[in-house]
Amino acid sequence: MSVKIASIILCAGVGSRLKSAKNKVLHEVCGRPMCYWPIKNASLVTNLKPIVVLSHQAEAVEDKLKMCFQDTITFAYQKIPNGTAGAVKAALPYLDPSCQSVLVVCGDTPLLKKESLEKLVTIQTSSHVPVALMSAFAEDPTGYGRIIRNSSQHISGIVECQEATPLEREIKEVNPSVYVFDVNFLRENIDNIETNNQKREFYLTDLVHLYIKHGPKYGPIGNVEIPYEEMHGINDRRQLAYAQKVLNRRLLDQWMLDGVTFIDPDSTYIEESVRLAKDVVVYPGVHLRGETHVGEGAVIENGCIIKDSVIEKNAHLLPYTCSDQASIGERAMVGPFARLRPETRLEADVKIGNFVEIKKSRLKKGVKAGHLAYIGDAEIGEHCNIGAGTITCNFDGTHKHRTVIGDNAFVGSNTTLIAPIAIGDNAYIAGGSVINQEVPNHALAIGRAHQVNKERKNGKGKLVAQETNP
Ligand code: UD1
Ligand code: CA
Repeated sequence: MSVKIASIILCAGVGSRLKSAKNKVLHEVCGRPMCYWPIKNASLVTNLKPIVVLSHQAEAVEDKLKMCFQDTITFAYQKIPNGTAGAVKAALPYLDPSCQSVLVVCGDTPLLKKESLEKLVTIQTSSHVPVALMSAFAEDPTGYGRIIRNSSQHISGIVECQEATPLEREIKEVNPSVYVFDVNFLRENIDNIETNNQKREFYLTDLVHLYIKHGPKYGPIGNVEIPYEEMHGINDRRQLAYAQKVLNRRLLDQWMLDGVTFIDPDSTYIEESVRLAKDVVVYPGVHLRGETHVGEGAVIENGCIIKDSVIEKNAHLLPYTCSDQASIGERAMVGPFARLRPETRLEADVKIGNFVEIKKSRLKKGVKAGHLAYIGDAEIGEHCNIGAGTITCNFDGTHKHRTVIGDNAFVGSNTTLIAPIAIGDNAYIAGGSVINQEVPNHALAIGRAHQVNKERKNGKGKLVAQETNP
C-alpha cells in the first residue's frame, strides 16, 4: 500500500436506545467493547494510526480502549455531538501530515469484515476518486440513508430516511456509513456542509452531494456492495445479541477450520483472545474467556466456564468446572463441579473431583483430591492423597497462612489443617483429625478425641459400654 491512509472511527454518539448507564460502544461483543472490532479491522487495512472520535463518557471509553490498543490509536473529541460530519471534522487536526486518504467507519458496526474494508480502500486509493462508499440491500431499509443512483447506475446522492420522499423510501439500497475520502477533498469540503435538515445536524452524507454538485470530474463515486449482515449496526440490545451471535460463530468457524471440534457451536461461547490447539474437543454450554490457552487433545465437557487459564495437552475437564487464572497440567482430570480460583497450579496427572475448591495453591504431579475439599494457600507434594472433606484453614480472621505438604502424604477424610502448618513426606493423617502441629516425615498423626461407647437403655434390654481405641 503506497498511499498513506488513516482511519477515523466515529464513537461520539450517545446511543440512547440501549437504555444503559454505560456508553453504547463499550457494550461487549465476544469479550471486547463493540467499537474494538471496527477499530481493529480499520487498522488492519490502513497504514497510519486510527483516530477514534469520542464525546459521551469520553474518559471511560478512552480508558477501555487504551487497555486494548495501548498507544496505537489516537483520540479526538467532538465537543457537541452535532452530526457525523461534525465528528469527522473533530478528527481532522489529528491526521498525520503525510495522510492522503481517510477511511471512515462507525464504532457501532462490529460485523464489518476486514476484507470488505480492504476492497473499499483499494477502490479509492487506486482510482483516486475523492469519495468511495459502501452500500447494501436491506429487506427493511427503515432508518437508513437511501442510496440514489442516476440513469447510468452511478451513485448520485444519499437521502436520509427522515428527508426521503415516499418514492425514495421504497429504495432498499442503503448506506452502511463506511467511506474512503481523499484527504484534500475532505478538508476542502467539510466546512461547506450545512445543517438545513430535519435533525439540524451536520450530515457526512452531504459530502456525496457536494462532490456531485461540483461536477464529478474524477469519475463516478467508488462503491463496494456488502452483505446486509456486515452493516448490522447496534442501536438496541436485540441488535447487540445478534452481533454477539454472528461474531461468536465467526470465531468458532475459524477454530473449526484449524482443527478444533465443537459438539454444538450454537451453544459454545468464545472470546477473541482465546487460543486453541488442534484436536481440542469442546462440549455444549462452554464459555472460553480472556487469555485462555488450551493444549492439543484437551477435552472440555459441558458447561465449563474457563477464564484466563492455561489447559495443557490432553487435560480433561469434566462438566461444570469453573476455572479462573488457573493452570491445569498435562493429562490432569478436573471436575465435575470443581472450582479453580486464581493462582491455582495443577501439575501433570493431578485428579480433582467434584466440589473441590482450590485457590493460590500448587498441587504437584499426580495429587488426588477426589471430593469435597477446600485447598487454599497450599503446596502439596507429588502423589499425595487429599481425602474428602479436607479443609486448609488458611485464614485466622486477619492473615492468610500457608499449608505445605510433602510428597506421598495421605490426608484422611475430613481433616482440618490449621495453617501455618507443615506435613512431612509420606506422613499419614487419620481421618477426622484437626492438625495444628507439624507432622514429621513418615509419621502417623491422629488429632481427634477417643471414641467412647456408653451404656444405653432402649427398653428392651441393656447395652454394655466399651471404650474403643481410635
Ligand atoms: C448514519 C448515516 C446514514 C446511514 C446510517 C448507517 C448520516 C447523516 N447518516 O445515520 O446514512 O444509513 O448511519 O447506520 O451520517 N456519531 C458521532 N457524532 C455525532 C453523531 C454520530 O460520532 O455527532 C457517530 C455515532 O456514534 C455512530 C455513527 O456516528 O457510531 C452514526 O451515527 P448515528 O446517529 O447512528 O447515524 P444514523 O442516524 O444512524
Ligand atoms: Ca446508527
